[in-house]
Amino acid sequence: MLLDGKAVSKILLEKIKQEVNKLDAKPHLVVILVGDDYASKIYVKNKKKTAESLGIKSTVIEFPSDISEEVLINKINELNNDKDVSAILVQMPLPKHINRDNVVSVIDPKKDVDCFTPENVGKLAIGMKPYFYPVTPQGIMIMLDYYKVPIEGKHVVIIGRSNIVGKPMAQMMLQRNATVTICHSKTENLEEIIKAADIIISAAGKKVVRCKMVKNNAVFVDVGISRDANGKLTGDLNWESDFNNFNEVVSFLERVSPVPGGVGPMTIVSLMLNTLASAKHMVILCLGAKLLLSTISLSF
Ligand code: GUN
Repeated sequence: MLLDGKAVSKILLEKIKQEVNKLDAKPHLVVILVGDDYASKIYVKNKKKTAESLGIKSTVIEFPSDISEEVLINKINELNNDKDVSAILVQMPLPKHINRDNVVSVIDPKKDVDCFTPENVGKLAIGMKPYFYPVTPQGIMIMLDYYKVPIEGKHVVIIGRSNIVGKPMAQMMLQRNATVTICHSKTENLEEIIKAADIIISAAGKKVVRCKMVKNNAVFVDVGISRDANGKLTGDLNWESDFNNFNEVVSFLERVSPVPGGVGPMTIVSLMLNTLASAKHMVILCLGAKLLLSTISLSF
């Protein structure tokens, strides 16, 4: 497996743990969970468990789905002013009656480990350094760097234009001098665009890519998570019989990040990295491997 996110995340988690150990003032991540979305509950539980396994203090604040926007915003303001809290994360999605933009806008950008605030998003967009890079794109960047996948000058095709993955991923790839195409549900000729890609980052949440669309030697990063007819976790890649022989399958697998075990673990480790940085009160200076070199002295 070329893009083994689980393996990379294990190495990094160990490094982060060592760094947390050295700190007198431990990082403190507060996660706000509104309502009882099943997937969100699982994500939040995993974040808390991982944080605690690294010595990072972690608090989950749960609100019922009928909470008012005002109460939620007041709580965030309280956390902004709390010197014991270094990182704030509001789990998405929020219930429909709450305006997401109003909520994320009040988070202190220095505690915004998700990179959701207009200040951090804006900085990323104009090539300034945000206090934190968004966790999933940052995790993908670290994974690609770990496996020494070349980025500069390459054609990166991103499927999905969300604020959490697609858009920030495009910004980060541009900063690394990639040529970037963003595709979405209305894109025409998707197959042709994918065929021209050196790196495909797919965050559609549906099986939109067939293996035969991916050109030889291109790398496929699968961000999609959905469940197949048997309830098994699966990504955006459609594995229908596009291969003539076993060798073709093996060669293809070497260029794909699996689901599960690819982007998922990298996203969590990336959040932990941001949380560590929040406690050190330091601005993350670089992207991907360079970021790690400057913060937790890992060389790869
Ligand atoms: N919901 C799904 N992904 C994310 C994420 O990266 N951050 C937050 N806050 N909520 C999410």
